[in-house]
Amino acid sequence: MMTPRDVASLLESFPSEPLGHYPTPLDSVPRLGEALGLTLQIKRDDATGLAFGGNKIRQLEFYLGKALAQGADTILITGAVQSNYVRAAAGAAAKLGLRCHVQLEDRVPLYDESYVNNGNVLVDRLLGAIVHTYPEGEDEAGADARLYEIADEERRQGFNPYVIPLGPGNPPLGALGYVKGALELVEQLEDPSAIDAFVVPSGSGMTHGGFLLGLRLLGVSASVFGICVRRDAAAQAERIAANCRSIEELLGLSAIVSDADIRTADDVLSPGYGRLNDATYAAVLLAARTEGLLLDTVYAGRALAGLVHLAKEGDIAAGSKVVFLHTGGTPALFGYSEVLNDRLANETKPE
Ligand SMILES: Cc1ncc(COP(=O)(O)O)c(C=O)c1O
Repeated sequence: MMTPRDVASLLESFPSEPLGHYPTPLDSVPRLGEALGLTLQIKRDDATGLAFGGNKIRQLEFYLGKALAQGADTILITGAVQSNYVRAAAGAAAKLGLRCHVQLEDRVPLYDESYVNNGNVLVDRLLGAIVHTYPEGEDEAGADARLYEIADEERRQGFNPYVIPLGPGNPPLGALGYVKGALELVEQLEDPSAIDAFVVPSGSGMTHGGFLLGLRLLGVSASVFGICVRRDAAAQAERIAANCRSIEELLGLSAIVSDADIRTADDVLSPGYGRLNDATYAAVLLAARTEGLLLDTVYAGRALAGLVHLAKEGDIAAGSKVVFLHTGGTPALFGYSEVLNDRLANETKPE
């Protein structure tokens, strides 16, 4: 176990570039908590600020720190068409005066006007990103390889590019943002040891891995549930284990996170990444209508749906004290406006 001060100084040895507004609020949400039978608080990382904020701002602080330390003038990043990561990177690049190439992968079978042109895609363009497309959505290595080809072309033109890689096997700098996020949260909580469970969305797993490792470093032992947004629970658990090993290596530590610490749940994943299901739609409406709190349908809404399921099944016991991490992603709501409006049109009117 380390003190908060030790964790902070460990992180200070990595270059980072401040991009967000911190600390993000830790809100009580009594009406939503009551609906779930829990005492619920929400860590508002949707409110990190830059270019609509979200969890990726914390991750980008370490990638951009490294990029600037290398004298980069251009950054490159890949993601789904409605990627929040890509949009946040385009915002960071604009703020820091860097050029930005974004590659949008065909990962979700949606081709309507709002998915293709609204939401995060609109914001990417407003921020001045150079937009590329990639025809595959489940080829992380190929998507990264294509970015490196664009980077080579940039180099030939005299630029100094820095690729923010998506696939595993790269130093998990982004996860350091969530070691730091865990530290921030622990310092906000009245009594961290009183929390029974933390719930986070789990995609690339940089948020889940960094947050879990940060909590364990600080001696917080409550369950951390990662709600799967892209891969099934077994594949995601493997990914989080690998992420934790590489975060430990990066920090010069070992055996901080055990396999038993890694909890992944894929009950609300079907029919797959970025595709709306009933549970997620219900969770998005529940948060909106109990707390005026907006969640996207790909990440935070799906994660809340996962929490609803865990509470209903008793995997998180009634009355537990839970912290839910709102990772942002709200601009994607506008990318899903046709999908959502179709559902809303069929809603029975309140009496
Ligand atoms: C809004 C939002 N929440 C959660 C995640 C998942 O975070 P991670 O990729 O660190 O697992 C993402 C990833 O793109 C995201 O955009």
